[in-house]
Amino acid sequence: MNPPHPSSAAAALLPFLLLLPHLLTAAAAPPPRPHPLNPLTPDELTLVSSTLTNSSTLTPPFTIHYVGLDDPDKPAVLSYAYSSPKTPAPPRRALVIARASRQNHRILVDLSTATVVEHVIVPNSVGFPTLTFEEQGEANNLPFGEPRFLESLRRRRLKAGEVVCGSFTVGWYGGGGGPKRRRVVRVMCYYKEGTVNVYMRPIEGLSLTVDLDEMRVIGFLDREVVPVPKAQGTDYREAAQDGPPRPKINPIGLVQPNGPSFTVDQHIISWAGWLFHLSFDARAGAIISLASIYDQQTRERRQVMYRGFISELFVPYMDLTEEWYFRTFLDAGEYGFGLCTFPLQPLRDCPENAVFMDGYIAGQDGTPVLMPNVFCVFERYAGDIMWRHTEALIPNITIREVRPEITLVVRTVSSVGNYDYIVDWEFKQSGSINVKVGLTGLLEVRGTKYTNMGQLTDEEYGILLAENTLGARHDHFVTFHLDLDIDEPPNSFVKTTFQTTRVMYPNKSPRKSYWRVVEKTAKTESEARVKLGSGQGDLLIVNPNKKTKVGNQVGYRLIPGSVTRPLLSVDDYPQIRAAFTNYNVWVTPYNKSEKWAGGLFTDESRGEDTLYTWSQRNRRIENKDIVLWYNLGIHHAPYQEDFPLMPTITDGFELRPTNFFESNPVLNVIPPEPVTWSNCSTAKAITMEWYLTSY
Ligand SMILES: *[C@@H]1O[C@H](CO)[C@@H](O)[C@H](O)[C@H]1NC(C)=O
Ligand SMILES: *[C@@H]1O[C@H](CO)[C@@H](O)[C@H](O)[C@H]1NC(C)=O
Ligand SMILES: *[C@@H]1O[C@H](CO)[C@@H](O)[C@H](O)[C@H]1NC(C)=O
Ligand SMILES: *[C@@H]1O[C@H](CO)[C@@H](O)[C@H](O)[C@H]1NC(C)=O
Repeated sequence: MNPPHPSSAAAALLPFLLLLPHLLTAAAAPPPRPHPLNPLTPDELTLVSSTLTNSSTLTPPFTIHYVGLDDPDKPAVLSYAYSSPKTPAPPRRALVIARASRQNHRILVDLSTATVVEHVIVPNSVGFPTLTFEEQGEANNLPFGEPRFLESLRRRRLKAGEVVCGSFTVGWYGGGGGPKRRRVVRVMCYYKEGTVNVYMRPIEGLSLTVDLDEMRVIGFLDREVVPVPKAQGTDYREAAQDGPPRPKINPIGLVQPNGPSFTVDQHIISWAGWLFHLSFDARAGAIISLASIYDQQTRERRQVMYRGFISELFVPYMDLTEEWYFRTFLDAGEYGFGLCTFPLQPLRDCPENAVFMDGYIAGQDGTPVLMPNVFCVFERYAGDIMWRHTEALIPNITIREVRPEITLVVRTVSSVGNYDYIVDWEFKQSGSINVKVGLTGLLEVRGTKYTNMGQLTDEEYGILLAENTLGARHDHFVTFHLDLDIDEPPNSFVKTTFQTTRVMYPNKSPRKSYWRVVEKTAKTESEARVKLGSGQGDLLIVNPNKKTKVGNQVGYRLIPGSVTRPLLSVDDYPQIRAAFTNYNVWVTPYNKSEKWAGGLFTDESRGEDTLYTWSQRNRRIENKDIVLWYNLGIHHAPYQEDFPLMPTITDGFELRPTNFFESNPVLNVIPPEPVTWSNCSTAKAITMEWYLTSY
């Protein structure tokens, strides 16, 4: 599935082409233009890098913080994707975010002409770009050249060779908008002796401040000596487990003897009537685009979603101690949700029938970096039921009809420091898109002198998970950008409320009440903001220009997951930066530059360029090309089972067809034939049983 490295193929051709220039013009067919939404190839990343160097746009030394596809104009993409015959692909441009001479640079490079077409210096007061891996690595090494730090380790009787450090973004706590703002991180360290679970062994009370532009230590604080929690019982590796064996689970798996039922053509995935484009971005991770479904009843392909991706995350900790109060991360903008993607492990991260795909990012010097196995795509059959019915009312016969639920999953896992976020985009045959976010990995714990809850009279920020180990309370908000285009734009946003209604006329009914649906189409952005709560009705994106045969507006609805909102005061600095989480749902008119809910320059941002501020313009959204934003949230008060590594906790949402089809679109789904196992009579009997009863 992974294509050969394109640049090596091009390099192999090069000598031949140089020798025969006349053949080049005569014989070589122009290379097929890539799909306009394809992520930048390694060749394109190299081209961007050399264009920057040759054009002297940036004065060295500079660091590249982001290179990705600059979104082509949406109408041109829609026309490329859906008109017949295909219109030509719009030109490809790269967006570059760089740092040079202590300034933020936003640069657009045209890939066909290899020229810089736009270069803007963005003031430091707005914020700073995503941290690179390379600079974090450098910053994490600085403490070991700092005599005061080494002395502090000696005082704690810790071996420097067993210490590892991490870079923490510092947020914003008022003022600081002037040109002298520094791009800094706090560096905090852990003790790895006897374990690989460094996050369970924090060295508290000790921190350094590093200026990332100068790459030097500008602050050092040794506040107090706190016991480092024990290594014992923290290692999570298979080989490190002892104790009595667990009850055994026999071999189990899923086989598709005829191969998968989906196809992958470069970045286009096709399955069970679904068609969508999958791409990888250093900031967002997975981007699903141009999702459409074939309607068997009307025999047409119908647009559902132009784009869906994770726009930002907000992870504030509820611990106000000196080394903790600033831990209020905006993970996508500060650390790069895609940048923190690591290769998925076959048979563990994804089942045996999975297909893997790679991604590419630009390194800090602009050169392409391969990110292997960032996605897996697989069909899931987890024993669930798509629909069923047993009919016992008809005398003398029993009807039993069952269809198993088989779905298609696109999975990616982002390990942002201690946490692992498992993100699944799941496509259902019924037309639903289910999105699930699973949280696992390691908690951020604080070292403490306490060893028993009975001693914790003056501790208000967490509970003990183990001796000397305090689980810090925090939230995870994940902001989804969901640009639905139901049967193409324009669309409208309709909110319904389920309203308890009293029966007014005593003679009308013996009942005193019932509930009914009150529908309201949001005319402006302010009317579309939703704080989920009890009595919540449905949240629909409809196409007001298209109705079903019986006269309902065609649409999709958002079925939210858990009802969670921030609990910080709206005037608190982290909440100002993350004001895009003030509501669970927002709707904005489509605007190409309103992509990152926490702003393009998120590190140390002051909340000036967020979904919240855009939405204050209160634009009209009725019968317009609109974008739905959904904040999924989890309040996390840790418990002992989360130590030393937490089992996955999951939340998600569903985008579900709502008067989109004329009737149940999966009535005619044919269950797959059973797998025939040689010499495995039991399995076959079970399989045949559900197969036969469904006919
Ligand atoms: C940049 O300059 C080098 C050396 O002159 C050249 O080989 C390369 O093709 C140039 N790249 C671009 C994108 O112009
Ligand atoms: C149902 O079966 C019973 C017993 O065989 C028979 O007496 C009865 O007539 C049947 N009822 C119908 C509606 O066919
Ligand atoms: C698009 O959004 C940006 C940022 O909010 C804004 O500056 C610009 O005016 C918007 N464009 C339109 C056409 O509304
Ligand atoms: C299946 O069973 C037959 C008959 O018992 C035997 O000859 C054959 O070797 C078996 N095949 C496998 C793969 O176990």
